[in-house]
Amino acid sequence: MITTKDLTKVYRTRDREVTALDGVDLHVHEGEVFGVVGQSGAGKSSLIRCVNLLERPTSGTVTVDGQELTALAGNGKRAGKELRAARGRIGMVFQHFNLLSSRSVLGNVELPLEILGHSGQERTRKAHELLDLVGLADKAKAYPAQLSGGQKQRVGIARALAGDPKVLLSDEATSALDPETTRSVLQLLRDLKEQLGLTVLLITHEMDVVKAVCDSAALMKNGRITESGTVPELLATPGSELARELFPVGGVPSAPGRTVVDVTFHGETTTEPVISKLSRTYNVDISILGAAMDTVAGKQVGRMRIELPGSFEDNVVPIGFLREQGLTVDVAAVARDDAPDTGKTDAADSAAGLVKEGAK
Ligand SMILES: Nc1ncnc2c1ncn2[C@@H]1O[C@H](COP(=O)(O)OP(=O)(O)OP(=O)(O)O)[C@@H](O)[C@H]1O
Ligand SMILES: [Mg+2]
Repeated sequence: MITTKDLTKVYRTRDREVTALDGVDLHVHEGEVFGVVGQSGAGKSSLIRCVNLLERPTSGTVTVDGQELTALAGNGKRAGKELRAARGRIGMVFQHFNLLSSRSVLGNVELPLEILGHSGQERTRKAHELLDLVGLADKAKAYPAQLSGGQKQRVGIARALAGDPKVLLSDEATSALDPETTRSVLQLLRDLKEQLGLTVLLITHEMDVVKAVCDSAALMKNGRITESGTVPELLATPGSELARELFPVGGVPSAPGRTVVDVTFHGETTTEPVISKLSRTYNVDISILGAAMDTVAGKQVGRMRIELPGSFEDNVVPIGFLREQGLTVDVAAVARDDAPDTGKTDAADSAAGLVKEGAK
């Protein structure tokens, strides 16, 4: 539904150049909620602004719903007719709502309909319909200043739906909201996706947002996508940084000479008693150092950090057994015999003398 090929964006200011996007290949399938996460400055907003051509990419292509937007003429406010029409079919939700304070809620939703050329009566009818869709039918006459943050964002979403878009883009739509309101706005996005058959590309820096609504996710670093896939795929990828951030597990070895392994459970494996099987089959004592269980897209997933006695070489067979059971296994670390005993019990792995074994 959304494809970018080798997308680059270089901002040129008087004295320097900033490469905000450095060869981004993104693929968002129809009907999914796709989350892009990354640190501040990673290029997330640049990506989303290039996807709807608010910003003209320096090179590369953007295709939305089969139409190559980068082939259409114009730029920003001077977009040509075709580009304007294409952009009308892409809804955009902003972090700071961008509502006009002088207009009522109804007036704010009518504005894009005005721009799209709907007549007065039709405009009002459609705006009421959209407000109903986002659960704000009773607030049509209110002014933005009289709304809570969550309600303002609902208006923002209603406005984004004015052009009957197939694609909704959202840049940090919930980062100005408290956790409870965030949940309800995310639920609304998910409901709208189902009801209207939308494809949603959202930018966030909150892993909880990804967990709550995303089918797929990508990690951005320095203008590049370093990982991407469906959430189950990411969880099944050894060494996935996104998986680790989605389900952080802490815990340091209890003593030197032990092997620490991060095990990811997903799909069928969540209900299998694999740990007790492992213990019985190989007669090993297993300590659980940390664990996190959650539900993602209606499915149970979890990660567990366990400790096995002995070195990595001693544990090749038990680790192989876990992999055979369909689990994703990352050797988190091996405690060195010569590691200084720092006495730390928090997750400061490096301080506790952990050696990265590398994802295998
Ligand atoms: N209009 C601009 N002119 C010059 N540089 C820009 C412009 N917009 C963004 N940049 C630079 O491009 C890089 C990526 O910025 P971008 O806003 O895409 O990051 P981001 O991932 O959205 O960050 P944040 O999480 O803080 O919103 C940054 O180094 C930023 O300073
Ligand atoms: Mg940003």
